[in-house]
Amino acid sequence: MPTTSAKLHRARAAKNDEFYTQYDDVKKECDNYLSHFFNKIIYCNCDTADSAFVKYFTELKAAGKIRDVWFSGGLGGDDFRSPASLERLNAADIVVTNPPFSLFREFIDQLIQYNKKFLVIGNMNSVIYRPLLTQIKENKIWFGVRRWTGGMNFITDNGMRGVSAIWYTNIAHGIIPPELPFTKRVEMPAYDNADAVNVNKSSHLPPDYTGIVGVPISFLQWYNPEKFEILGLAKDFTYDGKPCYINGDVLYTRLLIRRRFKNYLLP
Ligand SMILES: C[S@@+](CC[C@H](N)C(=O)[O-])C[C@H]1O[C@@H](n2cnc3c(N)ncnc32)[C@H](O)[C@@H]1O
Repeated sequence: MPTTSAKLHRARAAKNDEFYTQYDDVKKECDNYLSHFFNKIIYCNCDTADSAFVKYFTELKAAGKIRDVWFSGGLGGDDFRSPASLERLNAADIVVTNPPFSLFREFIDQLIQYNKKFLVIGNMNSVIYRPLLTQIKENKIWFGVRRWTGGMNFITDNGMRGVSAIWYTNIAHGIIPPELPFTKRVEMPAYDNADAVNVNKSSHLPPDYTGIVGVPISFLQWYNPEKFEILGLAKDFTYDGKPCYINGDVLYTRLLIRRRFKNYLLP
């Protein structure tokens, strides 16, 4: 009979969540939070002994820079929702991991519910999950230090795979996002079903425009709460409850945002 954890391992593998983070990516991001990690118990709750996260934090522990590193266990490990994991979650200080993409919503819900400090990898598209977007809007969760360059490469059984992943955290790293570039003035048509105008590229938002604009999700790479306000998903603001459209054409997901003030420093 296979053991419970072996069964769990197979069930998980079947879900195509087996993307492993590269050590360099872990180190480059985590090195920015060393003062926060000092003397803390770090919990990697979706990691086995061979994970790059566990390797990195084991090194920090050996160097006396953290108190301890815990992970989910051997082969397959404990489910992050299991009683054993929740007990560790309660006792640990900070969660750092790359959770299964298929369970990201549940994973983030749990972190919010347990009021934990965290630094985790997730898909950029996960921001459309309302509880997460709400926390971003309220400046309780933000992106990590790594800039958005289209995603990250992960190790899989079939070689390296690019995923549109980004770090999410609620730990202050002090790095201000880059200024939103402005490339050209274009026509900004109004939506048929919402009181806002649309741009297909965030870099088309003029520095002197402070009205409500629908922008692609990738806008968040430039999101600085001192300069912009996020209203929410455009479809939550439409008169008919449908995704926003122009001349009947439905657009990809848009976030409604507005500049907090005119920026005259840009052309
Ligand atoms: C995207 S992979 C990342 C693995 C590792 N954290 C890393 O960064 O290399 C997600 C991992 O979570 C594991 N996993 C899947 N479901 C899980 C669950 N319910 N609880 C804990 N871990 C789970 C998978 O087996 C997989 O190894």
